[in-house]
Amino acid sequence: MAKNKNIIDESTSIGNKISRRDILKTAGVGGVGVILGASGLSGLLSISESKATTKDAHEIVPFYGKHQSGITTKTQNHVYFVSLDVTTSKKEDLVQLFKDWTKAADLLSEGKAVGDLSSNEFLPPKDTGEAAGLSASNLTITFGVGPSLFVKDNQDRFGLKAKQPKELVGLPKFPLDALEEEWTGGDLCIQACADDLQVSFHAVRNLIRIARGKAILRWAQTGFQRTKQADPKSETPRNLFGFKDGTANPDVNNESQMNKQVWVQPGDGPDWLVNGSYLVVRRIQMFIEVWDRTTLKDQENTFGRYRENGAPIGQKNEFEKLDLKQKNEKGEYSIPADSHTRLSHGDGSQQILRRAYSYSDGMDLKTGSFDAGLLFLCFQRAPSKQFIPIQNRLAKMDKLNEYISHRGSAIFACLPGTKSSGFIGETLFN
Ligand code: HEM
Repeated sequence: MAKNKNIIDESTSIGNKISRRDILKTAGVGGVGVILGASGLSGLLSISESKATTKDAHEIVPFYGKHQSGITTKTQNHVYFVSLDVTTSKKEDLVQLFKDWTKAADLLSEGKAVGDLSSNEFLPPKDTGEAAGLSASNLTITFGVGPSLFVKDNQDRFGLKAKQPKELVGLPKFPLDALEEEWTGGDLCIQACADDLQVSFHAVRNLIRIARGKAILRWAQTGFQRTKQADPKSETPRNLFGFKDGTANPDVNNESQMNKQVWVQPGDGPDWLVNGSYLVVRRIQMFIEVWDRTTLKDQENTFGRYRENGAPIGQKNEFEKLDLKQKNEKGEYSIPADSHTRLSHGDGSQQILRRAYSYSDGMDLKTGSFDAGLLFLCFQRAPSKQFIPIQNRLAKMDKLNEYISHRGSAIFACLPGTKSSGFIGETLFN
């Protein structure tokens, strides 16, 4: 978080101008007051602005753009994911919320505070302050809307029913699903990813604060991957079963592949979602104690890949094209018929962009084991053609099912991106 930036930029104070007195007060503390006399308020603003930007430029992912960030962005070290219920019944409140969130998310993405950090001792500070002094840490904030925002209990809550895409409906119940209400559904979601957990927590906390009186938390889940300090070469991260996870993801730098697999295209459904994407979230517990008693051979047969280097069984390198026809000396498929890789790959025509994070939430009180697993987040153009058929195959016969349990689930339409003159959600609400 750039020093003093937050206290001098009027736009930081969502709908609340910072008074000159506040600026003088804080300028004295931060040591920039001298500039005020020489160049006036605007001079002060621009000088501090440029300083802040230079300091953090390499760790800033721009918020505004054709698509929302946090989808094809290189996966950061941490996620703070929240699902929310809307409590207001007024559409104008909802619109205002998205306008306020847009401004705040832009500031947060630049490593700035959402309001003045200066202490007017008669008011609670606008920004909660725990990210002061921290860099932007590649923070991305991605907003989504769930099916229940459109229709809930048969009510067209905000007059949006006619705009609900056919793809944005509750997921079917899959065999072996063990979903719990406390990890399921939601009217809205925020995915905040950053290389620092305090930065993503700060972002979510302040966005929830802004939503006061309009929306409340429904469920929340943090997740992690190895950090960039621990893995400077940035190899494929390993999941809590010790296997490389993310190898066969589509290439985020290949625009035509992203248009084919991830971004909603004109003609797919209602126009408001063009350039957006569908997010499916699954909170999947992994029974790590059981896994740890399983032989290496069984573990590798479960995934159909070697643990050490992530190569498909019978092949040498992690990124080799799968050879699903190859057989071993016993005449069996090298990549077993019930392995996760074979089943999730299918004929290769359905792909999803996985952006999963491990989670560890202390103890599962029911069993006394770790409550740890995968916060499975995946983006796609049409869940009915991508996540749903893949999960149907996995739920039926994936060997991995012996070691996992799907405990939470939700689907959201992640809105298209916007320009600085607009706001996230404008295509839906206008
Ligand atoms: C705890 C649950 C899961 C774990 C531990 C897990 C782990 C893995 C691993 C280790 C791989 C091989 C390396 C790679 O390509 O990334 C893989 C591949 C894959 N997984 Fe999962 N996965 C889980 C759940 C799911 C779910 C729920 C889906 C979707 C319904 C899914 C879809 C895929 C796909 C599409 C691939 C790539 C297949 C290919 O084309 O080679 N996974 N997963």
